[in-house]
Amino acid sequence: MKNINVSSPLLPSFEEFMELSKIAWDNKWLTNNGELHKRLEDELCDYLDVKYISLFSNGTLALITALQALNLKGEVITTPYTFTATANSVLWNNLKPVFVDIDPITMNLDYAEVEKAITKYTSAILPVHVYGEPCNNEKLNQIAERHGLKLIYDAAHAFNVRVNEESILNWGDCSILSFHATKTYSTIEGGAVVCNSLELKNKIDQLKNFGFESVESLPEVGINAKLNEIQCAFGLASLKVIDQSILKRKELSSYYADKLIDSEFLSLPIKRNDVQYNYSYFPVFVSGGLEKRDEVLKRLQNNGVIARKYFYPLVSDFEGFAKSRKLNLKNAEDISNSILCLPLHSELNFSDIDYIINVMEES
Ligand SMILES: Cc1ncc(COP(=O)(O)O)c(C=O)c1O
Repeated sequence: MKNINVSSPLLPSFEEFMELSKIAWDNKWLTNNGELHKRLEDELCDYLDVKYISLFSNGTLALITALQALNLKGEVITTPYTFTATANSVLWNNLKPVFVDIDPITMNLDYAEVEKAITKYTSAILPVHVYGEPCNNEKLNQIAERHGLKLIYDAAHAFNVRVNEESILNWGDCSILSFHATKTYSTIEGGAVVCNSLELKNKIDQLKNFGFESVESLPEVGINAKLNEIQCAFGLASLKVIDQSILKRKELSSYYADKLIDSEFLSLPIKRNDVQYNYSYFPVFVSGGLEKRDEVLKRLQNNGVIARKYFYPLVSDFEGFAKSRKLNLKNAEDISNSILCLPLHSELNFSDIDYIINVMEES
């Protein structure tokens, strides 16, 4: 029986990683904005075509700190169809999450529903580019401007995603990335805030370092969310192999798509021609309802294949969000009941995909 995991971490050359780590050794500087940290911020800005990046020890702390830096109050409109960290960050800032429905095609926040949910308490919109599919920034930005709201993108899945060659990380007031080991690009654990304003970057850098403005000044209490030098060495070495890895993911995704074209019970999200995707996930919709989806998942598992119900349940259904405001979430519920993320990573090969599809087709 095969043993196929849903993801596998992208590993850089070990020698390259060691060579870069030696810089930290030689400097005797392991964390707190060292040489490798500065190099990784610079190289990521160049690679991603963005103005400012603040590295973080994970994406969740990047989200929490970005919301804090923007001085939000009251309610934040977000999606129930995401990983819980998105909405956790709202509660960590003592703000109220307001969950609104998603568009059934993109699986991202439905902008028309966002506008309906705005009240005098709303201070921000927090959409997610789910699976790296770009949100409708034009509409969301218009809504944010019309109502004087901040727009923060959870771009945890959207490393280097572009529309007509322009990075989507430049949208809104800021974007948040996750560099967790399961993500397309990783620093093992890690994350970042991307923004266009030096003032905002400086504030975020201050808040991720306990809130220190200088050794004797702490105007606002922050947190410790710094990324260390060894993880930065891993990130720098990984930048050398990321293009190759995304290309492999693209080939595997096309292979899956070609093989599934005639499937009677599996269908795929629609892809846009003007988007440069990063192929971070391979989601499929299983028709026949939740039971059928769970049956397919079980069958895969029994045959050594790990797939994920990513995202089920909806975040808004977690007990921790019982007191949040929820609007009609019908599309999100339907998608959550039919979604399955199949294995996708650069270690996978075409014969693994044939095997996965055969197992599913027999259910
Ligand atoms: C949509 C989304 N937002 C935020 C996060 C949090 O990132 P991290 O795991 O780096 O804290 C994740 C992680 O999986 C995610 O999928």
